[in-house]
Amino acid sequence: MRLAASPEELRRELAGLPRPTVLVPTMGALHEGHLALVRRARQSAGPAGTVAVSIFVNPIQFDRPGDLAAYPKPLARDLEQCEAAGVDLVFAPEAAAMYFPDRSITVSESLLSRHLCGATRPGHFDGVCTVVLKLFNLFQADAAVFGEKDVQQLAILRRMARDLDLPVEIIGHPTVREPDGLAMSSRNVRLSPEHRADAPRIRRALEGARSLLQFGERSAAPFLAAARKHLEDSPFLRIDYLELVDAETLQPVSPIKRPAVLAAAVFYGDVRLIDHVTLPP
Ligand code: PAJ
Repeated sequence: MRLAASPEELRRELAGLPRPTVLVPTMGALHEGHLALVRRARQSAGPAGTVAVSIFVNPIQFDRPGDLAAYPKPLARDLEQCEAAGVDLVFAPEAAAMYFPDRSITVSESLLSRHLCGATRPGHFDGVCTVVLKLFNLFQADAAVFGEKDVQQLAILRRMARDLDLPVEIIGHPTVREPDGLAMSSRNVRLSPEHRADAPRIRRALEGARSLLQFGERSAAPFLAAARKHLEDSPFLRIDYLELVDAETLQPVSPIKRPAVLAAAVFYGDVRLIDHVTLPP
């Protein structure tokens, strides 16, 4: 496995590696969810192609300085996991190698980022779009794999590829979960034992609400009320948002006529977790 720490090193390493190049962008602290994306990338690259992983805790997508500072950075372990997973190339730059101090261009998304995480995390998706476009360019990626866990991120990146004519295939991969249903996340290790034990309720609240579909329910309010009740039964969590949105435009909908997404973000202490379920029309 090759390792690059700067854009120049990356260019050098890429020159010796065969196309197609399939990229898995991450912020490290790798878990089984990330490794599933790596396996999906290998499927797409084929045995002779190049599977690349970027590990970069992107400062410009963090809206809370504390969250950035607390983000885990187990780089040695991440590299071992990449090696074991058959990754060909890892790019792990320092922030100074990615951003000029006087940088003045940002990719900005103005519709899909209005609700969900975009509403409570100002600037977050502009930061994501900007770094992902840079990574696509640096790697000259043919395809890139992203998790459906970050459903809004995936929709926005698909929109960016469409609107900016990026020659990169965007591949989505289903959410990987712990045995108790909690969506895997690099932030889960920061939960106290009590909070960790309570957190599977997020998934249960969303799935419980989804089951109203079988009674013919289509308007948003009952879905939101059922999920809210289940979440608010917890003595530990605070709801950041709970929304029912159209699966493509991510704008609030009622009644449900097209595929929709019921999504939540909650805080356990200062740890923020997200999850969602999709609702067929
Ligand atoms: P990060 O949170 O490290 O996630 C990297 C990729 O792994 C994302 O595509 C995310 O959706 C996916 N992922 C995380 N947990 C997952 C799970 N439980 N199941 C399936 N996929 C999962 O998302 C980011 O980093 C950043 O915003 C990034 C795209 C790298 C830009 O900085």
